Amino acid sequence: MGSLCPCCAAMTTMSPPLTFLLLLLRLAYSSFPEEPGPLSYAPLEVVRRYPVFVGRAHRSSQRQELQIQTVLQINRTLYIGARDDLYRVELDNMSGDEMFYSKKRTWESNKNDIRVCRMKGKHEAKCRNFIKVLLSQHGGLFVCGTNAFNPMCASYTRDTLEMVGETVSGMARCPYDPKHANVALFAEGSLFTGTVTDFLAIDAVIYRSLGDSLALRTVKHDSKWFREPFFVSAVEWGPHIYFFFREMAMEFHHLEKVMVSRVARVCKGDMGGSQRVLEKQWTSFLKARLNCSVPGDSHFYFNLLHATSPILNMNGRDVILGLFSTPPNQAIIKIFPYYSIY
Ligand SMILES: *[C@@H]1O[C@H](CO)[C@@H](O)[C@H](O)[C@H]1NC(C)=O
Ligand SMILES: *[C@@H]1O[C@H](CO)[C@@H](O)[C@H](O)[C@H]1NC(C)=O
Ligand SMILES: *[C@@H]1O[C@H](CO)[C@@H](O)[C@H](O)[C@H]1NC(C)=O
Repeated sequence: MGSLCPCCAAMTTMSPPLTFLLLLLRLAYSSFPEEPGPLSYAPLEVVRRYPVFVGRAHRSSQRQELQIQTVLQINRTLYIGARDDLYRVELDNMSGDEMFYSKKRTWESNKNDIRVCRMKGKHEAKCRNFIKVLLSQHGGLFVCGTNAFNPMCASYTRDTLEMVGETVSGMARCPYDPKHANVALFAEGSLFTGTVTDFLAIDAVIYRSLGDSLALRTVKHDSKWFREPFFVSAVEWGPHIYFFFREMAMEFHHLEKVMVSRVARVCKGDMGGSQRVLEKQWTSFLKARLNCSVPGDSHFYFNLLHATSPILNMNGRDVILGLFSTPPNQAIIKIFPYYSIY
């Protein structure tokens, strides 16, 4: 394995057949990367080449305050989950510099949920329904919103965006607070989610539900499983689901908090434990650190994972590209390593 790649990262925990191959593209010739400038910046002339969506149905309608939370593309249609609203936008139906929606559906929290949310001390601006999960399922859409800190999920039709059937609880499927990062995907009929399950956002979870198999979760309040995770992405590959996230490191005994990036893996077909151990919990959960680093006098780490690509095939091998940075209080240096799964 090692001979195939310029720099193979050692797994810090356990030994799944998953090796991280870091190719430090910019570093082949120098020991320290040049600062490539912030990634969040796109030149205006580039941005101007693309039409924008500002929440309008046509040119003469009012501009609205848009708080986009999640976007799903199905062929040439975009579904956009925002605050209290779901939009459908046809990509082949743009006019010049702007995209218009062809359908909009409002899903607001009811008065009682908003009242309870306010009573529990949450700010009015957050006691709304932020759409945080938007997935394709059975020819329709599966949608979850924070619903004023009482998350709910429902199915919607794709064409008319109408709610069908009953709502189900969004607990462990959708965060309570719109600012919390979550991931969700369907695989083999089950919903796999990474989120927090409680109002106080203490209990982080990787959860499987809604399918024919038993609902399973990660162990509660155990920092060996998770410590303040920030979920970045989830990917299905072979018999497994991989969850990419960053969290507070447990392996350092520094006084300050150190954030590291990791990947966790569960088997899609996990049957859960017995009544004596890990009942209704994962028995296949593994996690490993993502080591994106630059050699030098002291090893320099890019500990914050920001995004991952879909699975790509490069040189005959399935690969996921990751984008890492240093923490914001250090110099902003970003590189594009990749790691491969096999
Ligand atoms: C990360 O990878 C480098 C290069 O293989 C290695 O020297 C370093 O010890 C690794 N760090 C950790 C924390 O595993
Ligand atoms: C996307 O388009 C292809 C080709 O037109 C079609 O076969 C497929 O069903 C579409 N996918 C979805 C999810 O609608
Ligand atoms: C484009 O959008 C307009 C306005 O919603 C609609 O009337 C028209 O049918 C759409 N055309 C296509 C090709 O989707």
